[in-house]
Formats: sequence, structure tokens, C-alpha cells
Amino acid sequence: MDQYIMKGGNPLVGEVTVSGAKNAALGILAAAIMTDEDVRIDNLPDVSDINVMLNAIEEIGARVERIHRNAVRINAGTVNAVCVETENIRRMRASYYLIGALLGKHKSATVPMPGGCQIGSRPIDQHLKGFRALGADCRITNGNVIADAASLSGSHIYLDIVSVGATINIMMAAALAKGKTVLENAAKEPHIVDVANFLNSMGANIKGAGTDVIRITGVERLHGTTYAIIPDQIEAGTFMFAAAITRGDIMVRNLIPKHMEAISAKLLEMGCEILEFDDAIRVVGSQRLRPTNIKTLPYPGYPTDMQPQAGAALAVARGTSVVIESIFENRFRYADELARMGANIKIEGNTAVITGVERLTGAEIRACDLRAGAALVLAGLSAEGITTISDIAYIQRGYEHFEEKLRALGAEIALVNSEREIQKFMLCAG
Ligand code: EPZ
Repeated sequence: MDQYIMKGGNPLVGEVTVSGAKNAALGILAAAIMTDEDVRIDNLPDVSDINVMLNAIEEIGARVERIHRNAVRINAGTVNAVCVETENIRRMRASYYLIGALLGKHKSATVPMPGGCQIGSRPIDQHLKGFRALGADCRITNGNVIADAASLSGSHIYLDIVSVGATINIMMAAALAKGKTVLENAAKEPHIVDVANFLNSMGANIKGAGTDVIRITGVERLHGTTYAIIPDQIEAGTFMFAAAITRGDIMVRNLIPKHMEAISAKLLEMGCEILEFDDAIRVVGSQRLRPTNIKTLPYPGYPTDMQPQAGAALAVARGTSVVIESIFENRFRYADELARMGANIKIEGNTAVITGVERLTGAEIRACDLRAGAALVLAGLSAEGITTISDIAYIQRGYEHFEEKLRALGAEIALVNSEREIQKFMLCAG
């Protein structure tokens, strides 16, 4: 089974280029099937979740042409089914976007209940609330979400909880509904704006994305487009924290500084030097990190997807930090793995009290979800000695060529899948 093996201690220094945003791309790929015309999407991250979504789109009859690893052309004029049943799709949270896209375009959808990282219960009641408000009949039968509508009509929808997925899903279904939809208490993440911009480039009429009130005026049909995905805020933040935890100096290129503000602010509090450029941020983490307190919040607050990376960095800070996870109920599972490396973290409900130690030590650990896995890699790169991480398929869902990018920054890390390869790494690592 594939593992990462690494020898910690090298400060990561150099430049890294951020790939396209996975969580924008997943919504955009689903929205691409809402027209019968050609859609070209560029800056697509080459990660497994994207490939699962492309397979699902192909399975229902769309033509999918991979132009190169970061670009695809889709034509959904040949979609002949509204029932998605590829096995892999069940493992992914973003499968739910196919409900909104198929319901909007074909007024019918049967999609397996979403899977995804086990970071909480992750219901979809707000998605269904929105679809029902637009006139759809929704039910969950035999593990599938089934949504049907004779027609969809605009409505005034108030989300009970700020939900990224529900905001994007309802935006898609409403784009082809009759009349106006007002979506209140909408999520404001950068990838929501990206999906709205993509839909508008196809002829949709969506205003206010990025604020908590989104107004959608339904149109008859959507046309083809060419669109480039925004840079991945969370991948960028992960490399910023890599500089912090390894006391390195990394220029993170191809990002939107505005999207990084909450992350940059925290790294400044922790004692890093932050230099901002038009489309890059340089993080210098030369001395031991200072402790700080973090509470995850919907955008523009500190992102929940950056919580594990902060937890790993604070585990070696000079003092005690408190991290409150306000979005998901079970997003501290990585703490047990860090404890195997010598970290001192106490979890009380949705709060972690992290007492920094001088240095972590290498250990055999496992990734428990996508972002926790990335955080454990950062911990291993800062630890003394050798760390091996298993279950790295989680990490490969959301980080394009992660180990190559880290090696280019001076990390001693390799992807191995046999005892022989492990021994070879150990010999080279000396
Ligand atoms: C998206 O998940 C992202 N995934 C997550 O990123 C991210 O952590 C999350 O948004 C928050 O930013 C994708 O975009 C594929 P939510 P999503 O709906 O849409 C509750 C990663 O690492 N809720 O904003 O599932 C929910 O339980 C992944 O890339 C309901 O109660 O998140 C959670 O507590 C991990 N009912 C809160 O809202 C609903 O109908 C926020 O969830 C929907 C959500």
C-alpha cells in the first residue's frame, strides 16, 4: 500500500506554484453538464477527486476529453441518464453537486448519498431544503438521493446553517429555474464565487456570490464556455504552514492574497514574516513559533480546512494554544497521530488545548482524512528522524503531486509501496 516516508529536519526553502482549487473544480465540473455545448476547463488540479467526478460525468453519457492533465473539454449533450451509480462516487462528498446540476438541467436526479472525509455527520438537509423550495420532490431511498420536479420555480430560501455545498448546489438548480431565487445566509468562500462566475460565463444570471445574499434569475438555457479555475486557497495555506513548521522560507506562487488573509494573519501572530505580492505570498518562519488561539469559521474567518495544519504547527510552538473547531464535530482525529510523535494535545469536545513541545519525533502514523493527512506530512517534515504515513490516498484526493512539490523545496520525502523501497530511502537518508 502506498505510503509517504520522510526524514524531518530540513527547513523548506524555495518556490512552489499552487494548483487549481479542488473544491471549486468539483462544483464547476458538475455545472459543466448543465449545457449541451462544449465546455473547456483549465487549471484543473490533477487529483483523484477530480478524476472520480470526471468518471461519473462520463458514465451518464457526457463526452469528456482530457486535453492535458490540467485541462478538460466536456460536452454533456449526450447525457442519457440522470442516475449516477459509479462505485467511486460514493466515497466522495462532492457527488452531491450532480444532484443540483441534473435537477437544474434535466429536472431529475438519482445520486448516491455523499461520502467524503469522516470529519463529522455532514448531513445534506439544507441542500434538500433548497431543492424542495424550488419545487422538487426529494427523498432518500436505498442509499440514493432522488430528486424530481415537473418544473423548478424561483424561491426565497434561508439557509439554517452556512453551508458551502448547499449554497453551490442550490445556485446550480436555481440557475435554470423559472423566475428569481434569493438565497440568504449563503456561504461566501472563494470557490462559491468561482462557481457563480463559471455559471455566469455560461449565460446564467447570478449576483451577490461572495456575500451572504445571492440573487439568481433563472434563464432558459446555458451555453458553452472556456474557464480557468481559481488557485486553491487551502493548498496555498498548507505550503505557507510548511514554511512555518520547518522554519523555512517559501514563496507560494499563483494565489490570491485576499483569499489568504485569515491564514496570513495567524502566521503573523505565530511569529512568521509574511511578504505579500500581487499573486504570491512569501512566508519566512525562521524562529520557533509563538502560540496563538484559533477558532474556525466560515469565510472570511479562519478556514476549517486549515485547522489540522495549524494544529501541527502549534504542537511545536513555544507555549500553549487553544483551537476551537466550530464547523465539524470530528476534526481532531489527527491529534492521536501527533501524540505518537510526542505532541501534547488535550481534546475536550470541539476544543483542542495544545501545549507546544520543543521537537516532535518521527513515528509510523496514518492519515485519517485529507487535510489531517497533509498536516501530518508537515509534522513529519519538522520532526526529528523518520516518519511513515499510511492511508495517503486521502491526501492524494486534494494535493496535486504533493511529494514532488515538497521535494522541490528541500524535503526528504518519497512515496513508497514496498519494504525494499523503504529500506532504499533509509539508506539514502543516511
Ligand atoms: C465543503 O464541504 C468542502 N468540501 C469541505 O472541504 C470544507 O471543509 C467545507 O465545505 C467547509 O468549508 C467540498 O467543497 C467538496 P458545508 P461541505 O456544507 O459542503 C453542516 C476538504 O478538505 N451542514 O459547508 O460538506 C455540516 O455538517 C473538504 O477539501 C448541515 O448541517 O461543508 C457542517 O457542520 C473537507 N446540513 C457545516 O454545515 C447541510 O445540508 C458546514 O458544512 C450541509 C451542511
